Amino acid sequence: MHQPIGVIDSGVGGLTVARELMRQLPKEKFIYLGDTQRCPYGPRPKEQVKRYTWQMVHYLLDKDIKMLIVACNTATAYTLQELQSTLSIPVIGVIEPGVRAAIKSSQNKQIGVIGTEGTISSEAYPHALKAVDHTISVDGLACPPFVPMIENGILSGEEAQMIVSETLQPLKNASGMDTLILGCTHYPLIKHLVQAQVGPGIQVISSGEETAREVSLILAYHGLLEQGNILPVHEFYTTGDMDKFRQVANSWFDTPIQVLELVSLDTKQSSAK
Ligand code: DGL
Repeated sequence: MHQPIGVIDSGVGGLTVARELMRQLPKEKFIYLGDTQRCPYGPRPKEQVKRYTWQMVHYLLDKDIKMLIVACNTATAYTLQELQSTLSIPVIGVIEPGVRAAIKSSQNKQIGVIGTEGTISSEAYPHALKAVDHTISVDGLACPPFVPMIENGILSGEEAQMIVSETLQPLKNASGMDTLILGCTHYPLIKHLVQAQVGPGIQVISSGEETAREVSLILAYHGLLEQGNILPVHEFYTTGDMDKFRQVANSWFDTPIQVLELVSLDTKQSSAK
């Protein structure tokens, strides 16, 4: 089907999911929208995150997307159910796929989750993990300094290392986890720093790979897979600083992004109706 797939995030974090989507689904065209100007969503009240998310969704619906990927854990925690029950296209979040990947990886059923304040306080991960297996024990930690640091393109070096080390300090006391979920799509951009901090004995999980696998299954199930052989030109939209967005995107993708535009979401509809 010659229609694009929409991907939304509060900023550059969803690019970590987009890269996996593009790798596993090379024929599909993706339209990515990052609400960089209003990032971070993590500390914002639920109703505000819902409003912003709906504005992004309406922007992409106007581009005639055939499927929507909510590549933001915070927005997934607050809006996924509402989006799924309102929209007529398939909508996928990143929490369930992350949970599945963690359950596959963990041997001792002691799982840690790091994410934004919103995601951690929503308890979306413990609920989803325990819905599959109630004997799993889950430790959550909010890491507010990570998203602003990543949005500013600080992905390595001494400053980044120090911020990661200080923020993850409380995890050191969490006994015996063998798996740590990166419950924010920004965090895979600093996965090397997180892994170095927690040590090689802990499997650090990003949800991108599993999300992309799920997307391809759903496209196939609904007969929505792109059949043509024309290489897609993906489109990227940001509400904020284009140079910063391009810098992070180009450091993450193998080839520089071609189409990047600045957009304003203020006039967009901010609810389901
Ligand atoms: N990347 C987002 C997430 O997965 C949001 C980060 C934020 O805006 O606070 O939660």
